[in-house]
Amino acid sequence: MIKWNDLVSSIKNQPTWNALIQALHTTYGVPRRSLIQLITRLSPHYCQGSPPTFNERKRLLKAISWLQQGHPIDYLLGEIVFYNRSFYIQRGVLLPRVETEWLVDLACQFIRQYPIDTVIELGAGSGVIGLSLALENPHIQVAAWDISQRAIALTKQNHSRHPCSNFQCLLGSFFHPQTGYEQVCTPNTLIVSNPPYIPTHDLPHLSDSVQQLDPKQALDGKQDGLFFYKKLMAIANRHQLPLLCEIGFNQGDAIRHLATSIPFMLDIKPDLAGHDRFAILIPKNSNLT
Ligand SMILES: C[S@@+](CC[C@H](N)C(=O)[O-])C[C@H]1O[C@@H](n2cnc3c(N)ncnc32)[C@H](O)[C@@H]1O
Repeated sequence: MIKWNDLVSSIKNQPTWNALIQALHTTYGVPRRSLIQLITRLSPHYCQGSPPTFNERKRLLKAISWLQQGHPIDYLLGEIVFYNRSFYIQRGVLLPRVETEWLVDLACQFIRQYPIDTVIELGAGSGVIGLSLALENPHIQVAAWDISQRAIALTKQNHSRHPCSNFQCLLGSFFHPQTGYEQVCTPNTLIVSNPPYIPTHDLPHLSDSVQQLDPKQALDGKQDGLFFYKKLMAIANRHQLPLLCEIGFNQGDAIRHLATSIPFMLDIKPDLAGHDRFAILIPKNSNLT
């Protein structure tokens, strides 16, 4: 951890915020942008040029130590921008990933193309997918489930931040016969999910930061990582509903294989890195084909 005295010894004049930013950037390689983001939150008087108080500099050094452990800055800022809106985030609820914005984009395209009136989502997390879909498509109803109390509490906070009457979030398993998806499903429903998809045996190989900060329940796709896809595909097949999922970068072939065992029209789309990342499945006998 950086010590205040070491830091100040590299600054000739009084340690103003600007001198600290310069020192942290040149000596310790902390990106300037991260420093400005942090300092404008730590010190409401930063713009007026006041020097840092004792508490502010303590908090700054703690924040820098967090970044040096390889943890994302987002948790320090308490929010992220997702699909052009700011959402609260929190430790213990999956930090939304950039590629998931594309899942929202694909869902919006699907909703424009087909007469979808309802979206149901397995795994609300912070609510970014469901709320973005509800806000972008005010003519449809969106319901998002999560088994985690923390996730639903955070989704509710984000819903208050972005009020819309066509969104609801529900605590409990998506699959629960009494409280799950069947409560709101219509014949024109699209199922959307970024489910847990890491095989249990791969969890210990994830980065320390992911293991420490993202909840296991949001990552663990059970034995082969495909548990949730199999269940969602069975539901899609039973009700003849389209399904749009984010998938692991190496799961395209497994999903192609699963889709042949049930009659689905399947389209797998890559992310910007060229990896298989999204699966669109439409049951062959559904009224959309
Ligand atoms: C990969 S995270 C996705 C979170 C969020 N949609 C996102 O993309 O940032 C998967 C979420 O599924 C939730 N989950 C796991 N099993 C579930 C179940 N049976 N029913 C509903 N949600 C579940 C987890 O708690 C977690 O929040």
